Amino acid sequence: SGIITLDRGFKNTGSTSSAITFLDGEKGILRYRGYSIEDLAEKSSFIEVAYLLIYGELPSKEELSNFQNDIKHHTLVPENTNKILEGFPTTAHPMGVLSSLVTSLTAFYPESLNPNRPEEDVNLNIIRLLAKLPTFAAWAYKHQMGHPVNYPDNKFDYCSNFLQMMFRLPHQRYEEDPVIANALDKLLILHADHEQNCSTSTVRIVGSSHASLYSSISAGISALWGPLHGGANAAVIKMLENIKEDGGDTKKWMAKAKDKDDPFRLFGFGHRVYKNFDPRAKIIKKAADDVLNKLGVNDPVLEIAKGLEEVALNDEYFIERKLYPNVDFYSGIIYRALGIPENMFTVMFAIGRLPGWIAQWKEMRENGEPIGRPRQIYVGENLRPYVDVDKR
Ligand code: CMC
Repeated sequence: SGIITLDRGFKNTGSTSSAITFLDGEKGILRYRGYSIEDLAEKSSFIEVAYLLIYGELPSKEELSNFQNDIKHHTLVPENTNKILEGFPTTAHPMGVLSSLVTSLTAFYPESLNPNRPEEDVNLNIIRLLAKLPTFAAWAYKHQMGHPVNYPDNKFDYCSNFLQMMFRLPHQRYEEDPVIANALDKLLILHADHEQNCSTSTVRIVGSSHASLYSSISAGISALWGPLHGGANAAVIKMLENIKEDGGDTKKWMAKAKDKDDPFRLFGFGHRVYKNFDPRAKIIKKAADDVLNKLGVNDPVLEIAKGLEEVALNDEYFIERKLYPNVDFYSGIIYRALGIPENMFTVMFAIGRLPGWIAQWKEMRENGEPIGRPRQIYVGENLRPYVDVDKR
């Protein structure tokens, strides 16, 4: 119709129908393909959840084992991507490196550019992406450390393979640590999809022009980078560190967050959709306690986080606006306990979110969605005469 309704930030506009993720922000419910996030986090594995999201059903034993093997066969990345990596300064943020390396895959697998390619090809690109993202992520880290990169070792499972590429030193063996690998696996499950958030909508809108899967995902990685989205997990740790250095006065920082003249926000709090506890935050808070206990890590920042949560949950301003801790509030504390540095936190989020992005991209293509093209309400000048440059 000719009537355009303005909805800044798409707060009330549905961009698509989807059968992937169900979210009830008032009740704090999150389900992937009908399975509750609590069940999946406790009983499933990240690879199984990836299969579920992308293909719609939990895999049989055989399907799962084929899927795992397919991914293992593709963990190696084209060797020339290492030259691209070497071209970056070591100070480059790993999110920028990751998004560049992912879009570079269109050059190595040009058939991905064909919008009418057969389904097997699409599937191969999906497997490649799931397999190669952890390799690129670990390489981005090694590069900033000035270390040689580690190649994938397929005797390990998905998470341990990533961890050995991150942390193995030259000529050393990597000893798997089930506490660390399981903690990581759980975090990845919790991040795997979240319906039409900023990065997923970006993946869909880029993909709606029939751009390749790789470039669509690369755009999603860029969207995730921002501090209001995935970048919040790193911003939370910085904030907690600052509060600690400031003597742990959580009330003072709360006042700053509420002050409308101060741009500071309480990172890890508030959500566009959840107006109740983010169910992922509940699971992560408990996992943070468990993991730190099991690893014998004592991170004073965890106590500050808990204190801050308590103050916020009892604060008039936060209650009125229904601001609760979100997924990013405690995740950084776990990443840190696992030895993952702060500027890699959002990269971890990207590894977790990848199956969701892929599933949404695939669903959009299969449903034959039209190109994404929002409208606007023009508020600029009316027609005016052109004035020659020397008369201005
Ligand atoms: N600290 C202080 N005030 C806040 C916060 C916060 N973290 N979040 C929202 N508010 C206030 C906001 O100022 C506004 O107040 P008023 O009505 O007086 O103008 C009200 O609450 C509503 O907020 P909004 O910004 O209009 O809500 P939104 O849906 O546009 O934004 C959000 C959602 C997540 C961007 C926002 O809550 C925020 O900036 N949070 C901090 C960043 C963060 O933790 N992001 C991670 C989101 S979860 C996972 C992910 O996407 O990565």
